[in-house]
Amino acid sequence: MRKPIIAGNWKMYKTHEEAKRFAAEVRGLVPDAGQVDAVICAPALFLEQLVTETKGQNLHIGAQTMHEEDSGAFTGEISPVQLKDIGVEYIIIGHSERRQYFNETDESVNRKVKAALAHGLVPIMCVGETLEQRENGDTNRVVQEQVKAGLADISAADVQKTVIAYEPIWAIGTGKTATAEDANTVCQVIREKVAELSGQESADAVRIQYGGSVKPANIQELMGMEHIDGALVGGASLESESFLKLLEAGA
Ligand code: G3H
Repeated sequence: MRKPIIAGNWKMYKTHEEAKRFAAEVRGLVPDAGQVDAVICAPALFLEQLVTETKGQNLHIGAQTMHEEDSGAFTGEISPVQLKDIGVEYIIIGHSERRQYFNETDESVNRKVKAALAHGLVPIMCVGETLEQRENGDTNRVVQEQVKAGLADISAADVQKTVIAYEPIWAIGTGKTATAEDANTVCQVIREKVAELSGQESADAVRIQYGGSVKPANIQELMGMEHIDGALVGGASLESESFLKLLEAGA
Protein backbone atom coordinates (compact mmCIF):
# COMPACT_ATOMS: atom_id res chain seq x y z
CA MET A 1 0.00 0.00 0.00
CA ARG A 2 0.99 3.64 0.19
CA LYS A 3 4.05 4.39 2.30
CA PRO A 4 3.39 7.05 4.96
CA ILE A 5 5.15 10.37 4.52
CA ILE A 6 5.76 12.73 7.41
CA ALA A 7 7.16 16.10 6.42
CA GLY A 8 8.21 18.93 8.68
CA ASN A 9 7.84 22.47 7.40
CA TRP A 10 10.11 24.74 9.37
CA LYS A 11 8.74 27.87 7.68
CA MET A 12 10.91 30.93 8.58
CA TYR A 13 12.25 29.47 11.80
CA LYS A 14 15.67 28.41 13.08
CA THR A 15 19.21 29.71 12.87
CA HIS A 16 22.14 27.89 11.31
CA GLU A 17 23.18 26.55 14.73
CA GLU A 18 19.66 25.37 15.57
CA ALA A 19 19.35 23.55 12.25
CA LYS A 20 22.70 21.89 12.87
CA ARG A 21 21.67 20.84 16.37
CA PHE A 22 18.42 19.35 15.08
CA ALA A 23 20.31 17.24 12.51
CA ALA A 24 22.67 16.01 15.23
CA GLU A 25 19.80 15.18 17.60
CA VAL A 26 17.90 13.01 15.11
CA ARG A 27 20.98 11.23 13.76
CA GLY A 28 20.54 7.47 13.99
CA LEU A 29 17.00 7.78 15.36
CA VAL A 30 14.91 8.18 12.21
CA PRO A 31 12.84 5.05 11.42
CA ASP A 32 14.08 3.21 8.37
CA ALA A 33 12.95 3.81 4.82
CA GLY A 34 10.79 0.71 4.69
CA GLN A 35 8.43 2.22 7.27
CA VAL A 36 8.02 5.90 6.49
CA ASP A 37 9.38 8.68 4.30
CA ALA A 38 10.75 11.37 6.59
CA VAL A 39 11.23 14.88 5.20
CA ILE A 40 12.33 18.24 6.56
CA CYS A 41 11.46 21.30 4.47
CA ALA A 42 13.84 23.94 5.71
CA PRO A 43 14.58 27.59 4.91
CA ALA A 44 16.68 27.77 1.72
CA LEU A 45 19.72 28.95 3.67
CA PHE A 46 20.05 25.62 5.48
CA LEU A 47 19.24 23.20 2.68
CA GLU A 48 22.78 22.41 1.62
CA GLN A 49 24.08 21.88 5.15
CA LEU A 50 21.09 19.67 6.01
CA VAL A 51 21.59 17.54 2.89
CA THR A 52 25.17 16.95 4.05
CA GLU A 53 24.33 16.44 7.71
CA THR A 54 21.57 13.89 7.03
CA LYS A 55 23.35 11.91 4.33
CA GLY A 56 22.88 8.15 4.54
CA GLN A 57 19.76 8.41 6.68
CA ASN A 58 16.09 8.15 5.86
CA LEU A 59 15.72 11.88 6.30
CA HIS A 60 15.12 13.73 3.07
CA ILE A 61 15.42 17.43 2.57
CA GLY A 62 12.85 19.66 0.92
CA ALA A 63 12.51 23.35 0.07
CA GLN A 64 9.46 25.45 0.86
CA THR A 65 9.06 27.20 -2.48
CA MET A 66 10.84 27.66 -5.79
CA HIS A 67 10.59 29.43 -9.13
CA GLU A 68 9.30 27.45 -12.08
CA GLU A 69 12.04 28.45 -14.55
CA ASP A 70 15.38 26.64 -14.72
CA SER A 71 17.36 29.90 -14.52
CA GLY A 72 16.99 33.58 -15.33
CA ALA A 73 16.85 37.13 -14.09
CA PHE A 74 14.51 36.53 -11.13
CA THR A 75 16.13 38.28 -8.19
CA GLY A 76 15.71 36.43 -4.93
CA GLU A 77 14.33 33.25 -6.47
CA ILE A 78 15.66 29.69 -6.47
CA SER A 79 15.17 27.26 -9.35
CA PRO A 80 14.41 23.54 -9.42
CA VAL A 81 17.78 23.00 -11.13
CA GLN A 82 19.58 24.70 -8.24
CA LEU A 83 17.65 22.69 -5.63
CA LYS A 84 18.34 19.43 -7.39
CA ASP A 85 21.99 20.35 -7.77
CA ILE A 86 22.54 20.50 -4.00
CA GLY A 87 20.64 17.29 -3.28
CA VAL A 88 17.21 18.58 -2.35
CA GLU A 89 14.51 15.97 -3.04
CA TYR A 90 11.16 17.53 -2.07
CA ILE A 91 9.48 20.86 -2.67
CA ILE A 92 6.37 22.32 -1.04
CA ILE A 93 4.25 24.03 -3.65
CA GLY A 94 1.27 26.30 -3.11
CA HIS A 95 1.32 26.39 0.68
CA SER A 96 -1.57 28.58 1.81
CA GLU A 97 0.92 31.11 3.22
CA ARG A 98 2.45 31.40 -0.28
CA ARG A 99 -1.00 31.72 -1.82
CA GLN A 100 -2.05 34.33 0.74
CA TYR A 101 1.08 36.50 1.05
CA PHE A 102 3.00 35.89 -2.17
CA ASN A 103 0.26 35.83 -4.79
CA GLU A 104 0.59 32.18 -5.74
CA THR A 105 -2.35 31.03 -7.82
CA ASP A 106 -3.65 27.67 -8.99
CA GLU A 107 -1.98 28.40 -12.33
CA SER A 108 1.45 29.14 -10.86
CA VAL A 109 1.07 26.09 -8.61
CA ASN A 110 0.45 23.96 -11.71
CA ARG A 111 3.53 25.37 -13.48
CA LYS A 112 5.68 24.73 -10.41
CA VAL A 113 4.39 21.19 -9.93
CA LYS A 114 5.27 20.46 -13.56
CA ALA A 115 8.73 22.02 -13.17
CA ALA A 116 9.40 20.01 -10.00
CA LEU A 117 8.43 16.75 -11.68
CA ALA A 118 10.48 17.59 -14.77
CA HIS A 119 13.55 17.91 -12.55
CA GLY A 120 12.91 14.86 -10.40
CA LEU A 121 11.82 16.74 -7.28
CA VAL A 122 8.81 15.38 -5.41
CA PRO A 123 6.15 18.10 -5.20
CA ILE A 124 4.10 18.41 -2.04
CA MET A 125 1.15 20.32 -3.46
CA CYS A 126 -0.95 22.06 -0.83
CA VAL A 127 -4.69 22.63 -1.00
CA GLY A 128 -7.22 23.70 1.59
CA GLU A 129 -10.16 25.94 2.38
CA THR A 130 -10.51 29.08 4.48
CA LEU A 131 -12.76 29.20 7.53
CA GLU A 132 -15.31 31.21 5.59
CA GLN A 133 -15.37 28.67 2.77
CA ARG A 134 -15.83 25.86 5.28
CA GLU A 135 -18.66 27.66 7.04
CA ASN A 136 -20.35 28.24 3.67
CA GLY A 137 -20.19 24.54 2.89
CA ASP A 138 -17.69 25.12 0.08
CA THR A 139 -14.84 22.91 1.30
CA ASN A 140 -15.23 20.09 -1.21
CA ARG A 141 -15.68 22.39 -4.19
CA VAL A 142 -12.65 24.50 -3.22
CA VAL A 143 -10.27 21.58 -2.80
CA GLN A 144 -11.59 19.83 -5.91
CA GLU A 145 -10.90 22.96 -7.96
CA GLN A 146 -7.43 23.37 -6.48
CA VAL A 147 -6.59 19.73 -7.22
CA LYS A 148 -7.95 19.96 -10.76
CA ALA A 149 -6.03 23.15 -11.54
CA GLY A 150 -2.84 22.06 -9.78
CA LEU A 151 -2.67 18.73 -11.59
CA ALA A 152 -3.78 20.01 -15.02
CA ASP A 153 -1.93 18.37 -17.92
CA ILE A 154 0.16 16.14 -15.67
CA SER A 155 0.54 12.50 -16.72
CA ALA A 156 -0.81 9.69 -14.56
CA ALA A 157 2.74 8.50 -13.88
CA ASP A 158 3.67 11.96 -12.57
CA VAL A 159 0.46 12.35 -10.56
CA GLN A 160 1.41 9.14 -8.78
CA LYS A 161 4.75 10.67 -7.74
CA THR A 162 3.08 13.81 -6.38
CA VAL A 163 2.13 14.25 -2.73
CA ILE A 164 -0.99 16.27 -1.99
CA ALA A 165 -1.23 18.02 1.36
CA TYR A 166 -4.72 18.89 2.56
CA GLU A 167 -4.33 21.82 4.93
CA PRO A 168 -7.49 23.58 6.06
CA ILE A 169 -6.24 27.14 6.47
CA TRP A 170 -8.17 27.69 9.69
CA ALA A 171 -6.26 24.82 11.32
CA ILE A 172 -2.75 26.04 10.50
CA GLY A 173 -0.83 27.25 13.53
CA THR A 174 -4.05 27.81 15.45
CA GLY A 175 -4.09 24.73 17.63
CA LYS A 176 -7.41 23.80 15.98
CA THR A 177 -7.24 20.47 14.19
CA ALA A 178 -9.88 19.14 11.88
CA THR A 179 -11.38 16.04 13.45
CA ALA A 180 -9.77 12.91 12.06
CA GLU A 181 -13.10 12.02 10.44
CA ASP A 182 -13.49 15.43 8.78
CA ALA A 183 -9.90 15.40 7.55
CA ASN A 184 -10.37 11.89 6.20
CA THR A 185 -13.56 12.88 4.40
CA VAL A 186 -11.83 15.72 2.58
CA CYS A 187 -8.84 13.51 1.76
CA GLN A 188 -11.29 11.02 0.29
CA VAL A 189 -12.87 13.79 -1.79
CA ILE A 190 -9.38 14.65 -3.04
CA ARG A 191 -8.65 11.01 -3.88
CA GLU A 192 -11.91 10.71 -5.78
CA LYS A 193 -11.05 13.84 -7.74
CA VAL A 194 -7.65 12.36 -8.61
CA ALA A 195 -9.44 9.21 -9.83
CA GLU A 196 -11.70 11.30 -12.03
CA LEU A 197 -8.80 13.32 -13.47
CA SER A 198 -6.09 10.71 -13.73
CA GLY A 199 -7.59 7.25 -13.23
CA GLN A 200 -8.06 4.86 -10.34
CA GLU A 201 -4.45 3.69 -10.38
CA SER A 202 -3.29 7.26 -9.74
CA ALA A 203 -5.88 7.71 -6.99
CA ASP A 204 -4.75 4.51 -5.28
CA ALA A 205 -1.08 5.51 -5.49
CA VAL A 206 -1.12 9.23 -4.71
CA ARG A 207 -0.22 10.05 -1.13
CA ILE A 208 -2.38 12.56 0.68
CA GLN A 209 -1.18 14.26 3.85
CA TYR A 210 -3.17 16.18 6.39
CA GLY A 211 -1.68 19.38 7.78
CA GLY A 212 -2.89 21.82 10.43
CA SER A 213 -1.85 21.67 14.10
CA VAL A 214 -0.64 18.08 13.86
CA LYS A 215 1.29 17.08 16.98
CA PRO A 216 2.40 13.89 18.74
CA ALA A 217 -0.87 13.83 20.69
CA ASN A 218 -3.14 13.69 17.63
CA ILE A 219 -1.10 12.15 14.81
CA GLN A 220 -1.96 8.56 15.66
CA GLU A 221 -5.65 9.11 15.20
CA LEU A 222 -5.14 10.99 11.94
CA MET A 223 -2.81 8.31 10.58
CA GLY A 224 -5.39 5.67 11.43
CA MET A 225 -7.71 7.07 8.77
CA GLU A 226 -8.06 5.30 5.44
CA HIS A 227 -7.30 8.25 3.18
CA ILE A 228 -4.63 10.01 5.27
CA ASP A 229 -1.16 8.85 4.29
CA GLY A 230 0.92 11.27 6.27
CA ALA A 231 1.23 14.72 7.73
CA LEU A 232 2.71 18.08 6.82
CA VAL A 233 3.69 19.56 10.15
CA GLY A 234 4.73 23.09 11.06
CA GLY A 235 5.19 23.92 14.74
CA ALA A 236 5.56 20.36 16.03
CA SER A 237 8.38 19.62 13.58
CA LEU A 238 10.71 22.23 15.03
CA GLU A 239 11.93 20.25 18.02
CA SER A 240 13.76 17.01 17.30
CA GLU A 241 12.03 15.11 20.10
CA SER A 242 8.59 15.97 18.84
CA PHE A 243 9.54 15.32 15.20
CA LEU A 244 10.86 11.87 16.11
CA LYS A 245 7.59 11.09 17.91
CA LEU A 246 5.67 12.08 14.79
CA LEU A 247 7.84 9.76 12.71
CA GLU A 248 7.33 6.87 15.14
CA ALA A 249 3.59 7.35 14.98
CA GLY A 250 3.71 7.52 11.20
CA ALA A 251 5.89 4.44 10.76
O1 G3H B 1 3.01 23.27 6.53
C1 G3H B 1 2.56 23.08 7.64
C2 G3H B 1 1.28 23.62 8.01
O2 G3H B 1 1.14 24.95 7.63
C3 G3H B 1 0.82 23.32 9.39
O3 G3H B 1 1.43 24.13 10.34
O4 G3H B 1 1.47 22.38 12.09
O5 G3H B 1 2.07 24.72 12.65
O6 G3H B 1 -0.30 24.09 12.12
P1 G3H B 1 1.15 23.82 11.90
